[in-house]
Amino acid sequence: MPLASRLNSFGAAQESLTTAEVAVPDPGPGEVLIGMMAAPVNPADINVIEGTYGDLPKLPATIGNEGVGRILAVGPGVRNLEAGQMVLPMTFGTWCARMVAPASSVIPLPGELDRFQAAMLTVNPATAWRMLHDFVKLQPGDWIVQNAANSGVGRSVIQLARALGWKTLNVVRRESLCGELQSAGADVVVTEECDLRKEWRTLCGGGRPKLALNAVGGPSALNLANSLAAGSTMVTYGAMSKQALKIPNGLLIFQGLRFQGFWLKRWRENAEESVRRETYAALAEHLGKGTLFTPVHASFPLDRVVEAVLAAQQDERGGKILLDLSV
Ligand SMILES: NC(=O)c1ccc[n+]([C@@H]2O[C@H](COP(=O)([O-])OP(=O)(O)OC[C@H]3O[C@@H](n4cnc5c(N)ncnc54)[C@H](OP(=O)(O)O)[C@@H]3O)[C@@H](O)[C@H]2O)c1
Repeated sequence: MPLASRLNSFGAAQESLTTAEVAVPDPGPGEVLIGMMAAPVNPADINVIEGTYGDLPKLPATIGNEGVGRILAVGPGVRNLEAGQMVLPMTFGTWCARMVAPASSVIPLPGELDRFQAAMLTVNPATAWRMLHDFVKLQPGDWIVQNAANSGVGRSVIQLARALGWKTLNVVRRESLCGELQSAGADVVVTEECDLRKEWRTLCGGGRPKLALNAVGGPSALNLANSLAAGSTMVTYGAMSKQALKIPNGLLIFQGLRFQGFWLKRWRENAEESVRRETYAALAEHLGKGTLFTPVHASFPLDRVVEAVLAAQQDERGGKILLDLSV
């Protein structure tokens, strides 16, 4: 029987997570059987394991928020998909060797893509894409400011903004990342110590940022807010520092800043099917062209899932941790 991850209780991965052999049924009417190829370990997966995420599965559960696979078989009545196609399953529970999913929930990829890169397409690049499009109407040459710029989302923002004609002011925790992110397309990279209220003019050549993307919270978020032009928007989509936002009243009253949140899950539930498909088609095209690329630090087979989760919690990684589900 194929292997699947098994979360038995919420808590530390060493105590709560394991793998088990599970029976996988043949695909029924309107369903497909997918042979999973790869899946990343994202902060959201760690939040699920710890029981702190906004949406938790009933336990015991096979977990995993995204991944890529290949269709092995289609059930009766499935017309738009065929065996052999690479697909992104949009259902929860991707950390497994085989899964059955509704055909309507699966996004087919155009041809063959690198399986590790494709495995990371559903969540972080889509989050970057929607945040760049849904909050502020950016003009060519406009600036975006973001923290956690070395994260999967942050790197997608850098690369997509570059491809779309916008500029990025990026905040990271380590000086050593500055050159690397500039090579990846960042216009300016500074560390958390840089006071953006004083420095934005020098850093951005007078073009004050109109959109801030915050995945850290606390003082880091305030630093971003202080760099924004009047009437701009800060979108909060993560809380890596686990510190709350603390925003001075004047930024709302005198600067007219707007503070909004983004959650990809809500977007996916509410977006029209055509917009959802257009978003992933655009991202797959960028991936195919190489304008979207996320570095990989290491990969682990599914039977070492706990090691993978622990590795994903290490600071100063050189990229994402993936589960190689095809071995
Ligand atoms: N709202 C949504 O729909 C949505 C969707 C996708 C992701 N997210 C969120 O976006 C964030 C990034 O996710 P990801 O998968 O892109 O992350 P990732 O690739 O795993 O990278 C995590 C990043 O967080 C930084 N970081 C960790 N602890 C930090 C701290 N205390 N202060 C400042 N930075 C810290 C790391 O900095 P170093 O590079 O220095 O190690 C790294 O750049 C997470 O909070 C995730 O939950 C939200």
